Amino acid sequence: MSADRLGARFLQDPLTRAFSTVLADVRSLDLGGQVADYIPELANVDADAFGIAATSIAGHTYATGDSATTFTIQSISKPFVFALVLAEIGFDRFLEHVGVEPSGEAFNAISFDDAGRPANPLINAGAIVTTSLMPATSADERFARIRDGLSVFAGRTLAIDQRVYDSESRTGNRNRALATLALSTGVLASSVDGAAEPYFQQCSLLIDTADLALMGATLANNGVNPRTGVRAVSAEVARHVLSVMSACGMYDRSGDWMVRVGMPAKSGVGGGIVAVAPGEYGIGVFSPPLDAFGNSSRGVETLRTLAARFGLHLFRHADQPGSLVQAIEFDPETATLSVRVRGALDFVDAERVVHETLAAATAHEFTTLVFDLSGVTEATPFVARVLHDLLEQARSAYTVTAVDPGGIVTGIR
Ligand code: DON
Repeated sequence: MSADRLGARFLQDPLTRAFSTVLADVRSLDLGGQVADYIPELANVDADAFGIAATSIAGHTYATGDSATTFTIQSISKPFVFALVLAEIGFDRFLEHVGVEPSGEAFNAISFDDAGRPANPLINAGAIVTTSLMPATSADERFARIRDGLSVFAGRTLAIDQRVYDSESRTGNRNRALATLALSTGVLASSVDGAAEPYFQQCSLLIDTADLALMGATLANNGVNPRTGVRAVSAEVARHVLSVMSACGMYDRSGDWMVRVGMPAKSGVGGGIVAVAPGEYGIGVFSPPLDAFGNSSRGVETLRTLAARFGLHLFRHADQPGSLVQAIEFDPETATLSVRVRGALDFVDAERVVHETLAAATAHEFTTLVFDLSGVTEATPFVARVLHDLLEQARSAYTVTAVDPGGIVTGIR
């Protein structure tokens, strides 16, 4: 559902308004930048176009500015092709061909480690090898599989911009050279053209910021497209991809990016950036002028502003998570201690529940312990194991009643 309008016709939804304010604020800044022209056809874009879209893991999209203007995905295809290839061949086999280390170098650097592998799948050398790893019997089939896979992330069939593809194919000799070097070190899994042409094609797929937001939201949502409900990749693959995006997504700007923005992201020379707030949002931004590092100037500023205003930095968290131990009650008449727990329980939550229960158990003389988990919505296997252990130990000294309709703890044997 598009959340452009809520109920009443005059009322614009507050989330879209918040994104529109960010767009207006960033548009008012003089950020400079140059539209990429090393692929000649890329120079023919509207340099003023500026759009933002965000899609939550509930599948709602908030879009503002030129959010429906299409542009070529370019390097933003790389993390998604990396995801598709991981799903096909697994992480261990992937690592025989490409590393996952930040290169600290420009996107088109000649980057090969001692084992002959490119540093990571998000610089050109690594991305071309990654494309070669998509199993196929021909270059056409390889691209078809990549296009189909990226279309699952986007929730619609993506089309290619033939002119941009022809333009890059005509001029992309540095990328062919990188593929040739990868062939010489033994890591390229296809012929040079069998990797370079599908790579140029994947970079020429047309998307808009709403597509980018949904593709990012699919990574944010453990690999399931939150609009279509279709799984693009496993949760583990989505996690691997976000990890590599965190370390390497913004090339030689990746460290500064994680400090200032704190969202795994990937930029493209077409002017797009996708950023992911895991478990929350995918965000797409588009503005063609690029900064000295090859990242959209307005895109970088937009994501910095969004991260600060919306509190999206990955390492930001509440000082004190909400109350998980809802109530601890002691009834002296029946010598019963009741502990009521609620919410989604993670590692640190288990610690709080255990400590508060032990403190109450030390403070009171009781014979019956009632442990009420009916308000618990989710618990990691680790938390379930810890609470199970707590109750098993309590059983040796007290009468224990576990209220556990979800079988979170009582389901463990
Ligand atoms: O390989 C290239 O040169 C382009 N097709 C893609 C490069 C790119 O988007 C780099 N991104 N920031």
